[in-house]
Amino acid sequence: IGHENAEYVVSRIRSVPGFPKEGIIFRDFMPVLSDARALRLLLEGMQSALPVPADSFDTIAGLEARGFLFGPALAAHLGKGFLAIRKAGKLPPQTIGESYDLEYGTASVEVETNLVHPGERVLIVDDLIATGGTAKAAADLIVKAGGVVVGFSFVMELIGLDGLSHLGGLPTSSLVSMP
Ligand code: PRP
Ligand code: ADE
Repeated sequence: IGHENAEYVVSRIRSVPGFPKEGIIFRDFMPVLSDARALRLLLEGMQSALPVPADSFDTIAGLEARGFLFGPALAAHLGKGFLAIRKAGKLPPQTIGESYDLEYGTASVEVETNLVHPGERVLIVDDLIATGGTAKAAADLIVKAGGVVVGFSFVMELIGLDGLSHLGGLPTSSLVSMP
C-alpha cells in the first residue's frame, strides 16, 4: 500500500497509556475503522501481507470481539466465508470449546461444530497479538473441530511479549509492531 498510506493507517491507531490499567499502553483501532480511507488501506494491507497465498485457505476465523471487526471485512474482500469464535456460552449447541490462560484467571472460547468442515483450511485473523494465548486457543479450537489452521494474520504485534513464537511455527503476518 506504500509508505505514505501505511503511515496514514498507523496515524489512526490511538495509543492510550494507563488503560485499562497502569503500565499498559492500549492500542485502539476504532479510529482506523471509523475512517473510510484508513479502513480500505488496512484491508488492502492485510490482503497484500497475507502469510499464505489466498488460494491456500477456505475460510477466515476471527475472535470475539475485536477479531469480528476486521475478520469478516477481510473475508468479504477475499471472497471467503467467516467463522465466528465466541466467548463461551454465547453460541447455540452443538459447540466445542477451548480454555486458555489470561494474565489473571482463564477464559474459554467456542465455535459451532457443524460449521467447521473436516479438513477445512482456516486462516485466523485478529486485531492484535500480545502474549499469543488467544490466538493459540483459537488455533487449538479449529483443530479440535476438525479444521486445519494454515496461518495467522494480525494488524498489530506487541513487541517484547514474543507472542508469535507461541503459534507452532505456522506462517504469521502483522502489519505493525509496537511495544
Ligand atoms: C485482545 C485482542 C486479542 C487479545 C490478544 O482481546 O483483541 O484478541 O486481546 O491478547 P493475547 O495475545 O495476550 O491473548 P480481549 O481479550 O481484550 O477481548 P476483546 O476483543 O473482547 O476486546
Ligand atoms: N490486548 C492485549 N494487550 C493490548 C493492548 N496493549 N492494546 C490493545 N489491546 C490489547
